[in-house]
This record gives sequence, structure tokens and C-alpha cells, in this order.
Amino acid sequence: MAQSIAFFNNKGGVSKTTTCFNLGWKLAERGHRVVMVDADPQCNLTGMVLDLSQQDALEDFYEKEPDRNLKAALEPAFASRPKALEPVNCIATEGQENLWLIPGHVGLAEDEVSLGVAQQLSESIQALKNLPGSFHHLFEITAEKYEADFILIDLSPGLGSINQNLVATADYFVVPASPDVFSVMAIDSLARILPRWAAWAESAAKLEALADADYPFPEPRLKFLGMIVQRYRLKGGEPTEAFRGYFDELDAAVNDTLVPAFDSAGLLFPAETYAEAGLEGALRLASISDFNTLIANSQQVRKPVFALTQEDVDRRGFVWQTQKANIDAFDQTFTELAERVENLVQ
Ligand SMILES: Nc1ncnc2c1ncn2[C@@H]1O[C@H](COP(=O)(O)OP(=O)(O)OP(=O)(O)O)[C@@H](O)[C@H]1O
Ligand SMILES: [Mg+2]
Repeated sequence: MAQSIAFFNNKGGVSKTTTCFNLGWKLAERGHRVVMVDADPQCNLTGMVLDLSQQDALEDFYEKEPDRNLKAALEPAFASRPKALEPVNCIATEGQENLWLIPGHVGLAEDEVSLGVAQQLSESIQALKNLPGSFHHLFEITAEKYEADFILIDLSPGLGSINQNLVATADYFVVPASPDVFSVMAIDSLARILPRWAAWAESAAKLEALADADYPFPEPRLKFLGMIVQRYRLKGGEPTEAFRGYFDELDAAVNDTLVPAFDSAGLLFPAETYAEAGLEGALRLASISDFNTLIANSQQVRKPVFALTQEDVDRRGFVWQTQKANIDAFDQTFTELAERVENLVQ
């Protein structure tokens, strides 16, 4: 059975998508079969797998392959078609044979409203009972088709009903964050929202209407894998002083606010489990510095920074040697991240 991991932070631009793609690739490189889901109407993850550099490329893709995206795959449930959900015909990732994508759709946000109504768990639930379990069911049958070990779910920033559903019905979640004042502030809302969503999933799972739906609402088992702090500058191999200050503030907010809130909501493993998996400081799964110029190469060839070759970077001599050392360091970081995830999810 595949293990699902959601990438969530209501704060935008904190490397949710980048980390989903990079970790997915790394897990795939290590022999796991991985299906990624682009559940963000911005479709940034889809743009990392598909070549969308031509104008209207995404529209052309939807036109040519109308069934090959998350929104279309959910249509039987959302448009109440007398037709069962079917596994998605995923997109294979060029350069990484164990990695697949359920492409996103810019119109997915339209389904937010009906899902929101269904998730209020009011009298209307009978008519909409197939919606809350539909995403989970679709991911399961698609993972089965690809014999996947992992399902990685990239989410939009924000607190909408799709995010609520996908986080609460996932097996695990990680919180990507940046060492800045906005990410420190976001910890407070994460500490309030996640327990609320977990409690909602507990009550949803107990509702008869949802249990005997075509796509039953799953028994919640959500656990927090940790924080991923990303995009800071280095000096002499360490975060610069300005960034170190934010690291300390983030760690303090995680330890003082997030951990107690998640703990009482049953979202944490025992402390030893995190320690044995080798997490740093305040439940930090990884610290990933700024990719600097490598990010441009990475976007151009649609590969993670740690998988870039000399040909991709197109530099020689000393410049290449420096870049190569950076690529190797990122490779080490993502290998450690993948090992920690493997340790926690077993
Ligand atoms: N470690 C890094 N170094 C440099 N640039 C990075 C790094 N991580 C992410 N980025 C860049 O930062 C931007 C935001 O990253 P990304 O899209 O992954 O964030 P996000 O949390 O998914 O955003 P959104 O909330 O809009 O979905 C992107 O342009 C990405 O290329
Ligand atoms: Mg994103």
C-alpha cells in the first residue's frame, strides 16, 4: 500500500512544489515508485514535469488529453456521473523512470465550493456523500495501477476545503518554510488549523453517510514528518547571521507552539522516533540553502538541482568544479532527507 505525503503550508512561496518534485525524484532514484499529485490550480508542479515553455502549452495539453488531469479524473464524483472513478493515466517524468505525475488543472478551484459544502457534514451530506472520500480513492487506485510506494501531494497555499481534505486524509504531511518573519508568523495558524482539520477528519470518518459512500471516507492516520527550512544564504558553510536569527525564531515557534498543539491532536510520533530518524533541532527534516544560479539550470532542463550534469549546467573548468561541489552538497542533503522520510514512514 502506498504511503501518502502532503506538502502543506498556508504561507505561499515556501518551496512546497520544488520540494515535492525534488524529494519525489530522490525517492524514485532510490528505487521507490512515486506518484506525484498536482493539487494546486496554479499547476506549478505540472510545469516542472511537462514542458510548458511554449505559449498556451497547458491549454494545448488539456485539449489533446482531456482526461489526463486531477479535475477531469474526479468528474464522475463531482459532476455526479453514473460512472466510477478510474485510475489516472499519469505522465511519466523524463529522466526518472520511477516517477509519475497526476497533472493539475487550473479549474480545480471550481470544485472547492461543493467540497466545502459536503465537508460541513450537515444534512446536505447525503447528496454530496461521495465527494469527501473521492480524492483519497482516486489516489489509491492510481497508486495501485503504478504499484507506487509513495504518493506525494503538492498543495496550494491557503486554507480551502481541498487542502483540508487532502491533508486530513493523507498518511503524513511535511511543512516547508522559509527562514523569514512570515514563516514564523504562519506557525501560529498551522498550530491552530491542523488540529482542527484532524478533529474534522475524525468526525467525518464516524459519519454513516460517508462510510457507506461509493468512495468511503478513510480512517484518519495523519502524522507530521517535520519542517523543511529552505532558501537561505550560506557563509563559510553556515547560514549567514541574519538567517540564523530566523532559524532560531522558527525553532522556538515550532517547539513552543507547533509541537504542543500537534501533540495534543495526536499528530506526532513519539519523540524517540524523530530522534532515531535523525531529525535536526526542532523537528526539522531538512535545511536546504539557496540553490542560487543552479535553480535556473534546473528549471530549464526540468530536473532537480542535485541531478544536474555538466552538460545541463554548461560550464567548464573551475566554474564547473565549484558548481559540481554545490550539486554534490545538495545531493547529500536530499539523500539525507529521503533517508529520514524512509525511516519515519515505515
Ligand atoms: N532552495 C531554493 N533556492 C532557490 N530558489 C528556490 C529554492 N526553493 C524554491 N525556490 C524558488 O522559489 C520559488 C517558490 O518556490 P515554490 O514554487 O516551490 O514554492 P511554493 O511553496 O510551492 O509556492 P506556492 O505557495 O505559490 O505554491 C520558485 O521560483 C522556486 O524556483
Ligand atoms: Mg507551489
